[in-house]
Order: sequence, then structure tokens, then C-alpha cells
Amino acid sequence: MAQVSFEFDLLTVAATRRLGYCLGQYCQPGTVLLLSGNLGSGKTTLVQGLGYSLDIGEPISSPTFTLVNEYLEGRIPLYHVDLYRLEPCQVGSLELETYWDGEETAHGVVVIEWAERMMEYPKESIHLTLSHRLGGGRQATVTASTEPQIALLEKVVGDGLLVDEV
Ligand SMILES: Nc1ncnc2c1ncn2[C@@H]1O[C@H](COP(=O)(O)OP(=O)(O)O)[C@@H](O)[C@H]1O
Ligand SMILES: [Mg+2]
Repeated sequence: MAQVSFEFDLLTVAATRRLGYCLGQYCQPGTVLLLSGNLGSGKTTLVQGLGYSLDIGEPISSPTFTLVNEYLEGRIPLYHVDLYRLEPCQVGSLELETYWDGEETAHGVVVIEWAERMMEYPKESIHLTLSHRLGGGRQATVTASTEPQIALLEKVVGDGLLVDEV
């Protein structure tokens, strides 16, 4: 299956939240979203928009110290992970796969900040890289290579965000 990528121009903070919101609208229990990008590139902002679309009332902030925040009161559980403080070799001990295999925890949406610290990715996931955009704002590149994830991205694009297929 071919890889599909889209680029989104996020000119404002609201646009970053909106992309998160649109992704959240189409997430299913078991969807894994892998976020990469420097400090301040907008990862947590995007998760805030996503949490809003899952009807999570609590404020969402980076789980930099707790590593994982679990939000269980929304439409679908949200597991928000931040690997910033870990070395790649330490990530395995978190056993993140328990979140997407859903055996010990309720199946939910898993969003991982600093996913570039992972040594292995789940088979089916959406990769989203954020960066500062020349001229201001941020740019997001979103990539999927498996069918349900590609379909999800196509729905987000269908929502009419500012987008280029790349
Ligand atoms: N599209 C955007 N344009 C301008 N500023 C943005 C945009 N998206 C997010 N920000 C701002 O960038 C800062 C860092 O965002 P944050 O989500 O905490 O980044 P990260 O989690 O990647 O470190 C925040 O002040 C946020 O409001
Ligand atoms: Mg963050």
C-alpha cells in the first residue's frame, strides 16, 4: 500500500487546534497518532483540539513529567503520552502497546508526543510532524500507509482545511 502524505499550513494557534479537532472527529478506539517536532512546534496544542472533539472537559497539558495522562471521561478514552524525557532505549519499559492492543486498558485514542524517541512503531498509525513555518505559524505533515488510516486522513482533508497533497 502506498504512503499518503498531506501538508497543512497552520497559520494560527486556532488552526493547529482545528487540525487536532478534525483528526479527533474521525479517530476510532485503537487509533494511534505519532507526533514529532521540536519543543514549541504545537504538539500539545493539537492534542487540545483533539481532546475537545472527544468531549474531554479537563484541560490538556503536556504529560512531560507524568509521561502518560489518561482521560477516560470523553466519548472515547484518550491516552496522551510525552516521551521528551526518555531515551529511546527507555521507551520499551513503558509498554505502550498495552494502550493499542486494548487488553489491559479500555481501547482508546493514543497520541504520543516525541514519537521520534520510539525504537519501534505500531503497525498501523498516523505520523504527524509539526514544524515552524517560514513566514509564521506552523506546518504539519501527516502521513499514513495503511488503509483505515489513509481513509481517516482523506476525511480530514475533505473537511476543507488548507492542504497540499505531497
Ligand atoms: N499554528 C500556530 N501558530 C503560532 N503559534 C502556535 C501555533 N500552534 C501552536 N502555537 C503556539 O506554540 C506554542 C507551543 O505550543 P505547544 O503545543 O506547547 O508545543 P509542543 O507541545 O510541541 O512543545 C504555544 O504558545 C502555542 O500556542
Ligand atoms: Mg508538548
